[in-house]
Amino acid sequence: MRKLICFLLVFCVLAGAFSCMALEVDTINNLLSSKYMILVNREYTVSSDYVPSDLVTYPGSSYKLEKNCAAALQKLINACAAANGERLVLYSGYRTYQTQYNKYYNKVNQYINNGYSRDKAITLTDQYYARPGASEHHTGLAADICTPSSVNKYGQLHESFGNTAEGKWLKKNSWKYGFILRYEKGKEHITGYNYEPWHFRYVGDIAEEIYQSGLTYEEYFAKLKTAQNKLSSAPEMTIKNNKVFLSAPDGVTIRYTSDGSTPTMSSKAYSSAFSTKNKTYKAIAFYDGHTSAVATVTITKYGDIFKDISTKDWYYSAVSKAVNIGAFSGTGDYTFAPNTEMSRAMIAQVLANINGVDLAAYKGKTAYRDVSSKKWYAAAINWATEQNIVQGIGNSEFAPNTSITREQVCTVLYNATTTKKYTLKNNTFTDQESISSWAKKGVAFCYQNDIVNGYPEGTFQPQHSASRAEVAKMILSYLSI
Ligand code: DAL
Ligand code: ZN
Repeated sequence: MRKLICFLLVFCVLAGAFSCMALEVDTINNLLSSKYMILVNREYTVSSDYVPSDLVTYPGSSYKLEKNCAAALQKLINACAAANGERLVLYSGYRTYQTQYNKYYNKVNQYINNGYSRDKAITLTDQYYARPGASEHHTGLAADICTPSSVNKYGQLHESFGNTAEGKWLKKNSWKYGFILRYEKGKEHITGYNYEPWHFRYVGDIAEEIYQSGLTYEEYFAKLKTAQNKLSSAPEMTIKNNKVFLSAPDGVTIRYTSDGSTPTMSSKAYSSAFSTKNKTYKAIAFYDGHTSAVATVTITKYGDIFKDISTKDWYYSAVSKAVNIGAFSGTGDYTFAPNTEMSRAMIAQVLANINGVDLAAYKGKTAYRDVSSKKWYAAAINWATEQNIVQGIGNSEFAPNTSITREQVCTVLYNATTTKKYTLKNNTFTDQESISSWAKKGVAFCYQNDIVNGYPEGTFQPQHSASRAEVAKMILSYLSI
């Protein structure tokens, strides 16, 4: 039993240490474009004239650091002193290209003066010193910190610092202040440098995640870049024969839900095309524990497919039905655009659709300067004008692409009916006096027939534009009176 508990404990610790936080691809994009995530090493260098933004002088020293890095370093040094005793000192911060150049070649020359060949001197220098342009210190985000008692008699930082209380504390706790230990023991083949227990790199909040991963910054950065590429889009949808097929790049798994909820790592794995009606499928791609944006698709109860409506939307029933009876069409590429404002041309087309008009007879010249006979809506506007359902806006114009307002929709529906006896009672809406005089009867007609409601606070908002979803709902109520 004791063995089992021990095993479980070790397992949990290990699982904890290596678990990684699921990041959404948007977060990954933000992280990778943040200045705090810059990767500078032998492979990725900065130009000689690169100067980081927001450099400040670190208090009590002559070194500069990026301002958030400097503020975090103060907290780190205070916390380390409180926990251990000896106060850390900043031995190096921001270095220009020229400073790094001097540091690097001074070291090379020192080795040469000590009898090494130039090649050997360079090999030895490369173990601890970055070449100009390749140093993290050039970013203003790296700090060499050490206790004075660990500096050797030549004034050099020494790897024995890693065995001091302060060195050990830093390795374990620096992430809490946004820092990572950059050049670890045993990782020389990845980082390219010898163990430097004093070199800390500021990355901000993601430090915890990097620390927990147990990876070097090079490895963590590369993994994040791969995840960014693999998850750059939501699972791709192909629609064929009323079925929705999903695909994603190699190594990426797709999980989905069919009840409109957001998928998680434990949702069902996608294995075959979606085809059940009256369902909203939401799918997400997973790679290395990270997630893509969500892809949504709804197969309506009538079998129509839309990527931008969900069974959970208040207008779902109305929109599905309105499409099914041919009152509305989608807006292309499996979209309905429910929240797009309804235009004056669209309402003319919808009225023609529900009246089953043979529009072939209405093609050709139009009475309006701004309605070209070549447009998809020309015939419907011609028909609706002839029926006195719509009118131009004056000056021989129709304004086909202008949004239609709530009072205009009511008027159009009223114009399309034969019964014309509607009057709004006084005080029905608190903003009743703002209903245009020509629209009063139409609003009364729609309100009294439950085609349109007022807003909960008692207004009607006659000049508010109406969305396609709102008009779909109105049309269905209109058809049921
Ligand atoms: N000591 C590190 C590698 C630098 O020179 O930037
Ligand atoms: Zn350093």
